[in-house]
Amino acid sequence: MQDTIIPPPLRIADLAFTSFTTSHVLLTLCQLSIPDFLATGPQTALALSQKLGTDPDRLFRLLRFAGVHGLLTMRSAGGKKGSWTPEGTLFKNNALSSMLCDDHPQSQRHMVLCLLGKDRLAAAWDELEWAVRTEGGDAMKRAYGRGVWEHLEKSDGLEDLFSRAMADLDHSCATTVLKDYDWRRFDRYIDIGGAYGSFLASLLGRHPAAKGVLFDQLQVVERAEGDWLRHPERKLLADRTAFTSGDFFKPETLPRAEGPGDVYVLRQVCHDWSDDDTLAILRSVRSAMGSHQCTLALVEAVIKPTQQATADPYNRARAASDLHMMLMFGSRERDAEQWRSLLAAAGFSLGRIVPTRSMFSIVEATPVPVTV
Ligand SMILES: C[S@@+](CC[C@H](N)C(=O)[O-])C[C@H]1O[C@@H](n2cnc3c(N)ncnc32)[C@H](O)[C@@H]1O
Repeated sequence: MQDTIIPPPLRIADLAFTSFTTSHVLLTLCQLSIPDFLATGPQTALALSQKLGTDPDRLFRLLRFAGVHGLLTMRSAGGKKGSWTPEGTLFKNNALSSMLCDDHPQSQRHMVLCLLGKDRLAAAWDELEWAVRTEGGDAMKRAYGRGVWEHLEKSDGLEDLFSRAMADLDHSCATTVLKDYDWRRFDRYIDIGGAYGSFLASLLGRHPAAKGVLFDQLQVVERAEGDWLRHPERKLLADRTAFTSGDFFKPETLPRAEGPGDVYVLRQVCHDWSDDDTLAILRSVRSAMGSHQCTLALVEAVIKPTQQATADPYNRARAASDLHMMLMFGSRERDAEQWRSLLAAAGFSLGRIVPTRSMFSIVEATPVPVTV
């Protein structure tokens, strides 16, 4: 609608100016924890500035921007009609700003901070032109002199923030990914590159008889296990979960399959890697399956054919994620044919691609038996 009623010059100005200014405002709302402060009820900018130690007028202007853009609700505090002043306007959380509260069950706060905050991943976007001119280059290395994983490891607190951002992604779409695919027919979920295990926990929570295996790098798994044991609900799930660490490029470190009821889940993992690396990861998983006819379930943003692209409301997010992967890792989002050929080269047969009511689909494959 917006695309059709706003004249093209204004729409371009709007895209160029409003989108980046909105990102900055989103970030600042998180950095100042404003939605958390507003969680107790509506407040004026003046009252809030006293709690936050900010300049009242500047804070008011920040909140007014957020209000105008629908990120907060604002109304007159009942004083002089129409006076937009730090003391005359009440700001209140709405459905969007509530998502920036630290403890909201669908919080997106860590995602915003990780992408846009200190040591921000979005810095790689400054290298977009360079990346498009370059074949196979790594914009992250150009921005920071190091790749994403090293950057996460070496930036204070960023690795933790990233794993929490991954959990935020869960809040935004896990429910549909859980509901729109029949996960309950499996006995054991083996989550490869499962980060802090938020998706695994959701799977186990919905299927009380199933077991789980969380596999990731040592430092991530150690933190995940500690987190699970501290969290009362997850502690119960931990009894059904094996926490194992290793390197998915080393097949011998992966958890071995035990039967046909096992499903190896790789959610948002392969899109971080080039075709060669993805092939190596898939081959490791194939090797870990041995002779068991278990299932591989990749949760990925499968790119739709061009003619369907504009009709699909999630395709904007998929296209953005594709560029983000190019900049972060020199990798990509893939379409059905690209998945089919990668899976075949790794010893799998692509079964179905199950769409969900989110940007993600489940790419389901089974191992091709090895003939001797
Ligand atoms: C994009 S995150 C996806 C996390 C999780 N699957 C999710 O959807 O929330 C990729 C994960 O792969 C893990 N990873 C990266 N390199 C790895 C390696 N060589 N072996 C095992 N895990 C690795 C990272 O630690 C990270 O948790």
